[in-house]
Amino acid sequence: MDPSFANLFNLEGKTALVTGASSGLGVAFARGLARAGANVVVTARRQELIDKTAEMVRSFGGRSTAISADITDDAQVERLFDQTVAEYGRLDILVNNAGYTDRSGLRHDLGSMKRMRSIIELDLVATVNGCRLAGKQMMKQDGRGTIINISSILGRVGSEFRAASYHAAKGGVDALTRVLALEYAREGIRVNAIAPSYFDGTELMDKVFEANPATRDHSISRTPMGRLGQPEDLEGAVVFLASDAARFVTGHILYVDGGWTAGGGYHQLPPLWESSPGHQLLQ
Ligand SMILES: NC(=O)c1ccc[n+]([C@@H]2O[C@H](COP(=O)([O-])OP(=O)(O)OC[C@H]3O[C@@H](n4cnc5c(N)ncnc54)[C@H](O)[C@@H]3O)[C@@H](O)[C@H]2O)c1
Repeated sequence: MDPSFANLFNLEGKTALVTGASSGLGVAFARGLARAGANVVVTARRQELIDKTAEMVRSFGGRSTAISADITDDAQVERLFDQTVAEYGRLDILVNNAGYTDRSGLRHDLGSMKRMRSIIELDLVATVNGCRLAGKQMMKQDGRGTIINISSILGRVGSEFRAASYHAAKGGVDALTRVLALEYAREGIRVNAIAPSYFDGTELMDKVFEANPATRDHSISRTPMGRLGQPEDLEGAVVFLASDAARFVTGHILYVDGGWTAGGGYHQLPPLWESSPGHQLLQ
């Protein structure tokens, strides 16, 4: 391979900040960026878990600092950005990943305004705040930067998971991504999103599958590629969007979903479909 081509994906010397990096997909985003050479500041609320993520980042040769913060607390988030810039001198990549919903299906979130507000506060408002603070910092520095918001296929398609607030928040993240891409375009700041389908190995989905084991098979059956996502499936996507390989890509929602949204919410074929005349015409 032409080494200068591989260099397009090289993140050496860049400073990244990944929120929600104590478990699940946030750890995978930190690992992908670290493997591409970035220094990665990791944050979430549980210090002992983000310490482990920071150790993992360092094992790839980059620098890392674990700073605990509640992403819904404005003062804590400002301190997080200030500390990152004080320590690393700049911020090149923000991955707005922290997020949550209780999709156990046991309670409908429309039943409680408190619950609805807390999900929108975490999944949408905290993402707005991250974009705002990153944009402010990036505008001040040479080379500017890039923001990657973590959305979900549920920002685009409906579901029966009784999670209206989560859908609304992630749809808001998609809209925010597109509008900030325009507002920051002339400033040299790119804003994109990654929208995963259902992934194994995260605290969020472990709870969903535990509460209702049938949702696992149901999710697999609706995925054209026939499996759940694995956190490592996201490493290439985040490195692509963070790197010069995507230098003309902004306002894009990158679905990492095994084809789910290509089918507009894929449904398994009915059992007798293969012997139907319609199918035979396609042979
Ligand atoms: N797992 C999936 O299948 C899936 C699918 C689509 C989208 N997503 C999105 O991916 C992101 C990561 O989810 P995950 O599946 O890894 O879940 P997870 O529960 O394993 O991780 C969520 C992370 O966010 C952090 N977090 C939650 N509330 C916080 C707060 N108030 N302050 C600071 N940190 C907080 C948690 O500590 C954790 O580090 C979320 O935005 C989620 O909506 C996940």
